[in-house]
Amino acid sequence: MTERLNVVVGVTGGIAAYKAVGVIRLLVLAGHDVHVVATDAALRFVGRPTLEAISRNPVHTDLYEGVAQVRHVAIGQAADLIVVAPATANTIAKLATGLADDLLGNTILASRAPVVIAPAMHTEMWQNPATVANIATLRSRGVTVVGPGVGQLTGADSGPGRMVEPEEIVSSALAALRTKDLLGKRIVVTAGGTREALDPVRYIGNRSSGKQGVAIALAAAARGADVTLIGANLEVSAPASIHVKHVVSTLELADAVALAAEEADIVIMAAAVADYRPESVAQSKIKKETQGDRLTLELVKNPDILAGLADTRRAGQIIVGFAAETERDADAMIEIGRVKIARKGSDYLLVNRVGWNEGFATDGNSVVMLDRLGDIVMEASGSKSSIADRLLDVLARAR
Ligand code: C5P
Repeated sequence: MTERLNVVVGVTGGIAAYKAVGVIRLLVLAGHDVHVVATDAALRFVGRPTLEAISRNPVHTDLYEGVAQVRHVAIGQAADLIVVAPATANTIAKLATGLADDLLGNTILASRAPVVIAPAMHTEMWQNPATVANIATLRSRGVTVVGPGVGQLTGADSGPGRMVEPEEIVSSALAALRTKDLLGKRIVVTAGGTREALDPVRYIGNRSSGKQGVAIALAAAARGADVTLIGANLEVSAPASIHVKHVVSTLELADAVALAAEEADIVIMAAAVADYRPESVAQSKIKKETQGDRLTLELVKNPDILAGLADTRRAGQIIVGFAAETERDADAMIEIGRVKIARKGSDYLLVNRVGWNEGFATDGNSVVMLDRLGDIVMEASGSKSSIADRLLDVLARAR
């Protein structure tokens, strides 16, 4: 059971204020006590009853309400964490200069809690030198800036300035409270499933969604690591706060990993990589009219990236693999893992069961982590992010 935190969510006046409701909801569902401090402008975009119902607490806006309880400092003093979502250019400017002309400004100035902001504005405003300088000031004071993402803005325009999705804001906000036990460590994580083209429209692929690898990348970044995520056909949105290299095929993944691994302290191969690829790729669509009743595909073996990394690793570099197995018997599955880690030569191997409804694309997972000797060093079941943290606990200790 995670600790119940007192979280202040500051909502400011931008169109993205409607998405603040999602942030509040996720924090409440995670068991936290959420207190919304909205600016007057925010309440022009989202109604007080909505914010009160979702946060399950009164919403505060006015500096001159609750004066007897010294509310302008009490809310900030009680907070374990402050999240401002959306953070408009105006609020960012006020925070950077320490202005306290409203309840949110006072709350933040009166607090020692970590502050996480999720900017949302049009591209021109985000790129304006004034905003750039204000963001640099806030960062230099330890404020965590989540996003903004790149994409469709309120009008017809698109570009950087979109508030990132509530899930990422919440995970980054909770991450701000985490111990930075991987600070400065360079970690490469692969996620997703590779696709091997047959022709311009078809491929051989697998059902890996990338959820487990993305959860590892996010958890590692939260613990201070410098993360490179190599995403193969991710079905989940790539985190805006992490450097992501997108790839499609196994050979592309191999090149990207080789490059990133040169500087890495830890490489975690969570991607489901195709063992074989078509020997040749048809340059136009394969037609049943020309193939007839049977079609034979000639496949050739892909390089084993994990084994190659383990073979060429520098002293001190840690290489971690995953093994997705359909074996039903738990002991037999671990035995398969032991044979596999001996063959691949990685430092650790996480064995997990997959099936029609297990492992891939689900939110939960169940893993057994083996070391080079085949000994079990960790066993965990639960959300993919909890498994990510258990894995990183082992790696942080191993260092
Ligand atoms: O042999 P198997 O595919 O079960 O091994 C799984 C592990 O090896 C995963 O960590 C996967 O990323 C990696 N792998 C690889 N190159 C391949 C096949 C798998 O690096 N060609």
